[in-house]
Amino acid sequence: MTTSLVLGGATGIGAAAVRAFRARGDTVVLADRDADRGARLAAEDASGGIRFAAVDLLDPASPRRAVEAAEEAGDGVIDAVFYNAGVLEAHPLAEWPVAAWDRAVAVNLRGPFLTAQAAAAPLARAAHGRFLVTSSTGALRGHAGMPAYHATKAGLLGLIRALADEWGPTGVTANAVLPGWIDTEFNRGFWDHQSDPAEAMERLVAGIPLGRQGAPDDVVGAILFLTSPESAYITGQALVVDGGYTAV
Ligand SMILES: NC(=O)c1ccc[n+]([C@@H]2O[C@H](COP(=O)([O-])OP(=O)(O)OC[C@H]3O[C@@H](n4cnc5c(N)ncnc54)[C@H](O)[C@@H]3O)[C@@H](O)[C@H]2O)c1
Repeated sequence: MTTSLVLGGATGIGAAAVRAFRARGDTVVLADRDADRGARLAAEDASGGIRFAAVDLLDPASPRRAVEAAEEAGDGVIDAVFYNAGVLEAHPLAEWPVAAWDRAVAVNLRGPFLTAQAAAAPLARAAHGRFLVTSSTGALRGHAGMPAYHATKAGLLGLIRALADEWGPTGVTANAVLPGWIDTEFNRGFWDHQSDPAEAMERLVAGIPLGRQGAPDDVVGAILFLTSPESAYITGQALVVDGGYTAV
């Protein structure tokens, strides 16, 4: 049995990953604060099983609770951990609230670190332990109004490199997937921050070689690969999935 833990997967990219993990036969433990949509996703028919754990990753105790739920489901073994939860807030720099900065660090960066700490042993017991985080092309570029998002998503690249070194001898890999512009509710804060959202969207799409924003399913191939035995010799790496946005 393959047991996968997804943190932040009730909607969007994480939900697409949950569906894909279950379709390949994984038993998924889904940890998310959105109990309604988490329960709806868990009720879908699929070959792999699913358990839902209601956790708020703002709480530093939550990552360990989520890992414990997955350990229980996998009899002490977790094959793949996918930390995908993230938050995005945009404010003018002078008004940026310290509390919002702390929220971003807690969910986007401290959460993955605490998850890695808690999951190290059950991942090492797996035949092909995989730790994957969702960073962003926001780790490579910056936008006005979003300093905490860019800083935390860039911080994840440092985290996975440190984990790759620490975990190398165990064979557990640690990688990041970096989506570009994916059409989910997530970016609403960004669009609301633009003076002319329609014009900004047109300019954005014109700068993407593949000519469109991505959908959550566009990121799934990379997620499946980096949580599979086939990616055994890839660790500490950042895989960009952005329709060519950062290539030009
Ligand atoms: N949409 C994009 O364009 C884009 C681009 C690059 C990276 N990303 C990253 O992809 C990830 C998923 O984003 P998405 O676009 O699918 O958005 P989404 O809002 O659909 O998904 C975020 C998920 O995280 C959960 N979550 C948020 N805060 C939480 C908390 N405190 N505790 C528990 N769960 C929490 C939400 O309930 C939701 O299920 C995020 O890390 C985001 O930074 C998104």
